[in-house]
Amino acid sequence: MSLKVLVIHGPNLNLLGSREEDIYGSTDLDSINKELEKQAKEKGVQLETYQSNHEGEIVDKIGEAQKKFDVLILNPAAYTHTSIAIRDAILAIQTPVIEVHLSNIYQREEFRHKSMISPVSQGQICGFGPNSYYLALEAACATQQLKGEGQ
Ligand code: DQA
Repeated sequence: MSLKVLVIHGPNLNLLGSREEDIYGSTDLDSINKELEKQAKEKGVQLETYQSNHEGEIVDKIGEAQKKFDVLILNPAAYTHTSIAIRDAILAIQTPVIEVHLSNIYQREEFRHKSMISPVSQGQICGFGPNSYYLALEAACATQQLKGEGQ
């Protein structure tokens, strides 16, 4: 059975490519999703991508993920730093979550240094631009492999 991965992009990530290019680069979300799909196909992974600017919609999507996906890759964007609701949604499911950020949040303003999400995530990848997502996909595959080997 192939690994099923859901990628969730949080608020304002639909504006990638034109949004604060000095921080987030010039690659738009569509290109990131296409590259993720390409790499997923090569790895035999079933991948779905989703973007929302709304906290409640992200909470709903996480709640529904339990039955449908093995791993969740989540860039909660600004909700990283504020959302107890998204943190609780992650706690409510058994599906592992890999937290992703394009930028290195620890090099930026102090309010971005705190993630509500990382204490309830399997791990966090940040600071590698779009590669943060592709590395997360690698991590998702590695995790599943370890599970398959009973570790
Ligand atoms: C971000 C970092 C957050 O602090 C910010 O609010 C974002 C994007 C990132 O991918 O670097 O919207 O999650």
